[in-house]
Amino acid sequence: MTVTADTNQHYDLDPDIFGQFLDPLRKYSSALYTSDTDTLEQAQRTKLRFVADRLGLRGGERLLDVGCGWGSLILFMAEEFGCDTLGISPAPRQHEYIAEQAAARGVAERVHTRVGHFEQLDLPHRSVDAVTLLGSIVHMPDLGEVFRRARAVLRRGGTLYVSESCFRNASARTAFDSRGGTEFVREDIFGWGDLRPLSDLVTAAEDAGFSIIAVDDLTDHYRRTIDDWIANVYASADRIDAHGPGLAAKLRHYLEIANAGWGYTTKHYALTCRNAR
Ligand SMILES: C[S@@+](CC[C@H](N)C(=O)[O-])C[C@H]1O[C@@H](n2cnc3c(N)ncnc32)[C@H](O)[C@@H]1O
Repeated sequence: MTVTADTNQHYDLDPDIFGQFLDPLRKYSSALYTSDTDTLEQAQRTKLRFVADRLGLRGGERLLDVGCGWGSLILFMAEEFGCDTLGISPAPRQHEYIAEQAAARGVAERVHTRVGHFEQLDLPHRSVDAVTLLGSIVHMPDLGEVFRRARAVLRRGGTLYVSESCFRNASARTAFDSRGGTEFVREDIFGWGDLRPLSDLVTAAEDAGFSIIAVDDLTDHYRRTIDDWIANVYASADRIDAHGPGLAAKLRHYLEIANAGWGYTTKHYALTCRNAR
């Protein structure tokens, strides 16, 4: 499977669409809720603090975010922890948006981005303290290559955090692959994407030389995150449809399919690994 720019057809849509149903940081991955009353915005900020905790950030670290979306993580870590950040994404519109946000928040000198696929970019070895992939490894066909590259850019003792939706086991993946009608999620919305069982991620991490230091189950949090997104899509359907007739219904359909599978077919995990050697 080759990686093409089509992977990102979805992410190169007008950023305003995402502003209509995501939180104000436009974080397009699971939040973390601590009470029944948390808003989506609070839960996304809690999640970013959780990532900082898993990475052991104290302030001033060099951080690489692979698949940076609209910059939620790099902007947050630059603002809250004074990190020197680099975000990578193949979607040019995301970079324009991040540059505007970084300038507006006064952190432009600590927020950098590069347009491209992680698997193809030249990055200096042992140049960062932490690497993050939130909801992006699903778009990368060669897991071994991704974990090897992540380890190569990390300093010794540095930390990798990956959160991703996974099949609940290998047989759930086989059953999904052989079922008709599932191409919609894979091809119609995102372009190429592939869920795997957690065991595939763990194997790739171990084979690349990482030590696994934490596995967190965030499945219930992603279900609630998507419920919040669906409610926002309903509330903003007219404005979303102004970007393309039928877009709101298509988005809702995708999000509803994603939420139907949690716990049965799919799980959402965070995997934290150390470059210990
Ligand atoms: C679901 S979004 C998650 C964005 C962000 N991590 C967040 O939590 O909001 C997936 C991101 O991965 C990026 N992406 C897809 N393929 C990639 C690749 N090969 N290398 C780097 N980024 C990639 C997309 O452009 C998009 O920004």
